[in-house]
Amino acid sequence: MSDGEQDVSAATPRAPGASAEALLGTAGIARRGVGSAESQRASRAWWDADADDYLAEHRADIGDVDFVWSPEALREADARLLGDVAGRRVLEVGCGSAPCSRWLATQGARPVALDLSGAMLRHARAAGEATGVPVPLVQAGAERLPFADASFDLACSAYGAVPFVADPRRVMQEVARVLRPAGRWVFAVNHPMRWVFPDDPGPDGLTVGQSYFDRTPYLEVDDAGAATYVEHHRTIGDRVRDIVAAGLVLDDIVEPEWPEGHERVWGQWSPLRGRLFPGTAIFVTHRPGG
Ligand SMILES: C[S@@+](CC[C@H](N)C(=O)[O-])C[C@H]1O[C@@H](n2cnc3c(N)ncnc32)[C@H](O)[C@@H]1O
Repeated sequence: MSDGEQDVSAATPRAPGASAEALLGTAGIARRGVGSAESQRASRAWWDADADDYLAEHRADIGDVDFVWSPEALREADARLLGDVAGRRVLEVGCGSAPCSRWLATQGARPVALDLSGAMLRHARAAGEATGVPVPLVQAGAERLPFADASFDLACSAYGAVPFVADPRRVMQEVARVLRPAGRWVFAVNHPMRWVFPDDPGPDGLTVGQSYFDRTPYLEVDDAGAATYVEHHRTIGDRVRDIVAAGLVLDDIVEPEWPEGHERVWGQWSPLRGRLFPGTAIFVTHRPGG
């Protein structure tokens, strides 16, 4: 499908968010090209509208002071993908309610938690007060980070921002810019191979429905065809090229396995699918030098 062409259908294969859909007037699904401005506008509106429901559903998964990388329940406390964080200034990109940044603070790090959504950041502030672990919060989009060059020792993102931006290479470049030499940037996204399957945790989510090579974004749209939710696909190779083009070094791609006995269903992530193929890719990179 070419840019500008729009195929709107009434079906809604992605999981929940029903009240956000009603608030935003979501009328169907579309597949078409979508640039940075429309993607960011849609993401901000979506996460503002969905913040309460998202946290009501997932607070038990992500915790208040905990760093969970993915629905496979991989924790930074076990994986240590960021290395030693004590004393380090850490940027969290797409922090949501910021449980990861609060966990980092308890480990002696100096986190700054950034998100596009004011509603998510309000939850972050309230959770900071409730837990007694407040962290600095910044409202901004990941494609234009409001920080000086080389002002962070580490950067991280657990499903924040990267799957939702039209220009992920720009995010890599921005993170590389604000990192100090030798600083790590570790980010988790939907595993690219998930794109070929419908977003369904059950047996219907086991049958290939579209091409891995089709980068046409997934959109939900209102009656006028304006995006109310956006997801962008990149292949593994695309992600590697974005990282390398930003001058970063790729150290590892972690594909967390579904743990034995972990029965939690989280949107399209389920034990059924998790036992068969990966749901998350965590890219471990660093800025050279130092
Ligand atoms: C799935 S949540 C993940 C957040 C957190 N790790 C959690 O588990 O709750 C995605 C977050 O990314 C944020 N986000 C989406 N697009 C963004 C962008 N372009 N810039 C910054 N944040 C963005 C959303 O507002 C949302 O809080």
